[in-house]
Amino acid sequence: GPKALRFDGQTVVVTGAGGGLGKAYAVFFGERGANVVVNDLGGSFKGEGQSTKARDVVVSEIINAGGKAVANYDSVEDGDKIIETAIKSFGRVDVLINNAGILRDISFKNMKDDDWDLIMKVHVKGAYKCTRAAWPHFRKQKYGRVINTASAAGLFGSFGQCNYSAAKLAQVGFTETLAKEGLKYNILCNVIAPIAASRMTQTVMPPDVLENLKPDWVVPLVAVLVHPSNDTETGSIFEVGAGHMAKLRWERAKGALLRTDDSLTPGAILKKWNDVNDFSKPSYPTGTANFMELLEEAQKLPPNPPAEKLDFKGK
Ligand code: NAI
Repeated sequence: GPKALRFDGQTVVVTGAGGGLGKAYAVFFGERGANVVVNDLGGSFKGEGQSTKARDVVVSEIINAGGKAVANYDSVEDGDKIIETAIKSFGRVDVLINNAGILRDISFKNMKDDDWDLIMKVHVKGAYKCTRAAWPHFRKQKYGRVINTASAAGLFGSFGQCNYSAAKLAQVGFTETLAKEGLKYNILCNVIAPIAASRMTQTVMPPDVLENLKPDWVVPLVAVLVHPSNDTETGSIFEVGAGHMAKLRWERAKGALLRTDDSLTPGAILKKWNDVNDFSKPSYPTGTANFMELLEEAQKLPPNPPAEKLDFKGK
């Protein structure tokens, strides 16, 4: 039968690999022949403190199983040092899995600047710094695979997590742009919204549910996306966990087109409100609407009639 996907000779950097999903990635790629950089700062899930233990255990586990791994103890905010570890230890970097993360859950009403800033620093600045440092290597070798880690909280919103939601949806925009800039250099970038049992989720989900949400069930999709045999899938968002995996995408409604003159009033928009919201014949854009073409069409339209009832409910 077909052989398992292998990563022999490749260097895979996994951030936040001391536990949870990151550990599962690291162990998997170690088993599949990759040189693994096991990064973790080793603080609490709220981003406090620092320890070397967790990631050292992961490195030993990989090496004891016959794999190759080194530890890196820097914060993702110092991503250049993490990539430097990859280059110094293995001479190259092929795959970057931006996985490190923390939580600072608190209602928006009670949110402090520190809660906001720390989340942005670890998730947004962290993913930026690691990817920025790997990028020149990827470009030079015309090969790179990046996974960024979003969250359902970022895609859909989540009570008490507005800092985390903002940082997680940032991963989507980041990925979509990197996918565009990287394509020419065979740098493919995708973003996942995982769900898995970890110390991050153990306080918010019951034990019997957690039992069935193994990080190991997120790993195979990531492996498929970062394998050299994937030479097309880029800029995509995937939900993955509990054995479920599905791509997500943007959907554009039919939309309204209004003549661009003084008749383009709030009342004229209310008149067309159903079209603005009409998803019966959607399109799935990967870029902005063609405004030049639309503008030309809009100018050919007759003046816009206002709605009969000028209140939102009237629609
Ligand atoms: P986890 O807490 O077990 O793993 C995160 C790791 O990142 C920890 O080992 C932590 O020490 C490390 N870390 C934190 N700040 C760091 C920094 N500045 N530099 C380097 N390492 C740092 O949690 P889990 O669940 O494995 O999370 C992994 C990723 O998946 C995170 O980005 C998280 O936001 C995301 N995620 C997880 C979900 C889940 O259901 N477990 C749901 C949605 C997203």
